[in-house]
Amino acid sequence: MKGIVLAGGLGSRLFPLTKITNKHLLPVYDKPMVYYPIMTLVEAGITDIMIVTGGGHAGNFLRLLGNGHEFGLKGVNYAYQEKEGGIAEALSLTEYFADGDKIVVILGDNIIEKGIRREVDEFAGQPEGARILIKEVSNPERFGVVEFEGDRIVRIIEKPENPRTNYAVTGIYMYDSRIFDLIRELKPSGRGELEITDVNNIYLKKGQLAYSKLDGWWTDAGTFDSLLKANQLVAERERGTGAKDEGRKESG
Ligand code: G1P
Repeated sequence: MKGIVLAGGLGSRLFPLTKITNKHLLPVYDKPMVYYPIMTLVEAGITDIMIVTGGGHAGNFLRLLGNGHEFGLKGVNYAYQEKEGGIAEALSLTEYFADGDKIVVILGDNIIEKGIRREVDEFAGQPEGARILIKEVSNPERFGVVEFEGDRIVRIIEKPENPRTNYAVTGIYMYDSRIFDLIRELKPSGRGELEITDVNNIYLKKGQLAYSKLDGWWTDAGTFDSLLKANQLVAERERGTGAKDEGRKESG
């Protein structure tokens, strides 16, 4: 299985913090943001990793991460996103790297309390299709939101005005190699992007979208409030003063 960290984008919701650097290089407590998703993959046993980034600060990733020795890696692969086309467009750049293998994708601003080894193992045992990780949050309208019939997901809506559940789709996704064909069929959304939610809904329609509920807290760090929250949560975890999962379901 191969790992992909998506670390492109303009970081416009964090302007002017992102005026002279990439969002994923900003600090979260004692490390640059992009360290966390890399550690999540490595701790789950995934050591063949590609970082997709873009924009004017891409060279800094090479200077920061080098060959990944700090993470116990033998090397790091890089891809450069030439346009701002959304998550699915960024993923399409990794087809040659995936080379027919299954992939685990993490958005570079997604930080979790614990690990994803169990979920990766579940996906390894899944013959085909995709797996998303979901998490209950207090502000679902900011995310992709799942709707259920019983235990079964029947729909995923991107940033709904009136979410029907509190379950957000986290930025941790697992796909078989057919994803790249599906991305080629996508049409840009209203915001002009190839949406990952559209990819997930295609798998869902084929009856090939599994899900796991993520254990422990989850946050992104793409807005001022969620960046602050990510700093606080990581600091509490590092100091061993963190609250338990209950009451920690916000994502800024
Ligand atoms: C993206 C996805 C959304 C997902 C979120 C997780 O949103 O489009 O479905 O819930 O990541 O972090 P964005 O942060 O690009 O607005």
